[in-house]
Amino acid sequence: MVASGGVSGRLLVPSTLERSARPLIKLEDLRKEFHTKAGQVTALDGINLTVPDAAVHGIVGPSGAGKSTLIRCLTLLERPTSGAVKIDGEDLAALPERRLRSRRRRIGMVFQHVNLFDSRTAVANVAYPLRVSGQSKAAAQARARELLELVGLAGRDQSYPAQLSGGQQQRVGIARALASGPSVLLCDEPSSALDWSTTRQVLEVIKRINQALGLTVLIITHEMAVVRQVCDSVSLLSKGRIVQSGPIARVVTDYGSPLSRELIPLAAAPVGEARAQLEVSFSSADFSVREVLRLLADLGPDTAIEAGTLETLAGQRVGRFQLVVGVNARERVTGRLREAGLYVSREEAGEE
Ligand SMILES: Nc1ncnc2c1ncn2[C@@H]1O[C@H](COP(=O)(O)OP(=O)(O)OP(=O)(O)O)[C@@H](O)[C@H]1O
Ligand SMILES: [Mg+2]
Repeated sequence: MVASGGVSGRLLVPSTLERSARPLIKLEDLRKEFHTKAGQVTALDGINLTVPDAAVHGIVGPSGAGKSTLIRCLTLLERPTSGAVKIDGEDLAALPERRLRSRRRRIGMVFQHVNLFDSRTAVANVAYPLRVSGQSKAAAQARARELLELVGLAGRDQSYPAQLSGGQQQRVGIARALASGPSVLLCDEPSSALDWSTTRQVLEVIKRINQALGLTVLIITHEMAVVRQVCDSVSLLSKGRIVQSGPIARVVTDYGSPLSRELIPLAAAPVGEARAQLEVSFSSADFSVREVLRLLADLGPDTAIEAGTLETLAGQRVGRFQLVVGVNARERVTGRLREAGLYVSREEAGEE
């Protein structure tokens, strides 16, 4: 059972309300430069980031933004050029290699590709790091079985990787990452090789672990759907810098911001000649969906709702509607909506 043995002590610790907001991961002015034949590449350009204990934080950003470099610097697999990598108050970047090895056990890692031993069963794969660290076979296997149960694979402990689906293999990988009892789980694109329904299962497992064990989770992803489903907070990385960061509830209601636009996306609608496009954003903290729809329905002639998105994020309804209005109605409609307190952004020729 999960509620007995090694995992149980930690299960007693956190309920959501009791969790402290103590910083578990703290990056201070983290820089990483690579020197290549073509010249110097600044992969991380002064990263400051705090992730509280037991939070799930997402890092998103375009290809080449520095996401993988950030994860490698966090585990000190890559030495930062300068700056601090504090896990639970201790700066790993300042530790000598010998001490680092034991500290790395506090960090579990999950990758896009699981790399299980094909010739070992699921339980032997999970027990492997424990065997390497000197545990007896019986103790290591007992712990491995607990962890497999935690990731929803009770009864599959004798299966070989080839007998498991991609999602199940990923869950074995997660159980293996938990074997050394880490306080941080780092996931680099954990679901990008999986279809969406399998991704959901893997994310549910990650969330369950976060809640059951109070583990702090950092997920690197290019899928906003991952952020929507599991993250408490998110950072957008671009060219080695964090350009936007914060709790989901805050970034989505920063309506004009890049993360808000990606978390509440709108399908592109045709605008047409002599027409202007307006976007109206709102959250249920300020308006009910019904109120907004009533306002939009009552805008008078020459206005149409062309597209809309409604999402439930961080416990609130957030939405964005695209209106197409006649150029003559634009000022009147914008004024009316802004007067009502709605956020309105406009796209026009020559304007952002
Ligand atoms: N070992 C290295 N040597 C030289 N340059 C590197 C090295 N590792 C990464 N870089 C460079 O640092 C930058 C950030 O790379 P990184 O792999 O961290 O991006 P990423 O955000 O993970 O991208 P992706 O989404 O494609 O995985 C890129 O310009 C990359 O070419
Ligand atoms: Mg990468």
